[in-house]
Amino acid sequence: MKLVEELEEKIRKSAQLILDAKVVVAFTGAGISTESGLKDFRGDYGLWKKFDPYYYANYRVFLERPKLYWTMVKEERYGRDKKVEPNPAHLALAELEVMNRLDCIITQNVDGLHQIAGNKKVIEIHGSSRTSHCMKCKREFSYGEIAAKLELDEITPTCNDCRGVLKSDTVLFGEPLPVEPFNEALWWAESADLMLVIGSSLTVFPAAELPKRVIQRGKKAILINLTETPFDADFDLIFYEKAGKILPFFVKEVRKEIGHTKEQL
Ligand code: APR
Repeated sequence: MKLVEELEEKIRKSAQLILDAKVVVAFTGAGISTESGLKDFRGDYGLWKKFDPYYYANYRVFLERPKLYWTMVKEERYGRDKKVEPNPAHLALAELEVMNRLDCIITQNVDGLHQIAGNKKVIEIHGSSRTSHCMKCKREFSYGEIAAKLELDEITPTCNDCRGVLKSDTVLFGEPLPVEPFNEALWWAESADLMLVIGSSLTVFPAAELPKRVIQRGKKAILINLTETPFDADFDLIFYEKAGKILPFFVKEVRKEIGHTKEQL
């Protein structure tokens, strides 16, 4: 079978799994946001190729030397000359939710792009970069306020009220995961009969445990990832392709079916 026909067949099979499933959950990682211009962590041009996460994204190191983390963030995120927008992969997941064919997104990402794309049910298991808090008085600061502080070369942003050090609400290595979101993500992984795993190396735990829960229960799982992961053998369908290329084809196939069903009603 020619490559294109093989890809078309896999897309048709994936769309059928999405149509047949009762509970569809997406599990996303940094790879879904690279087509929005953000770096992933372990890909060829990943953030951890440039910054050693042991120093720049480690909770214990942050408590002693917060400047390291904020320097990396300023350079890589805030120091961007353009707004970061959702890409076709994010928009495709938003469409699946509108068509009632996606119940929930569990994301490891902190960029908020799923919510900006329009998805309502998003569980952020690694926190969010959209807000930061003062480590002393707990006052909350918005993304914009932090950006302004970093712009003013306040390399370690401090609280306007008590001068305490500000920490992003992104979970760092060695920092306990927020319990509530992870428990809810676990519930969804135990309830799903189909999981779409998109743009993750599946190398960080306990997050990577979630797709395993779906697979161990004998339910269906589809992987869209540019490179191999340790669990590839367990997936029903695998696309070593860009998420922004494949997901819109899923939507197109599902819409064909749903559109057709609507006419029948
Ligand atoms: N489409 C599909 N896959 C892609 C794309 C793309 N456009 N771009 C990159 N990828 C793949 C890469 O090949 C890589 O395997 O996405 C994967 C991203 O893996 P990581 O960089 O390890 O990111 P992630 O799995 O989200 O990391 C998990 O580790 O550093 C911590 O807390 C951080 O949440 C993060 C966690």
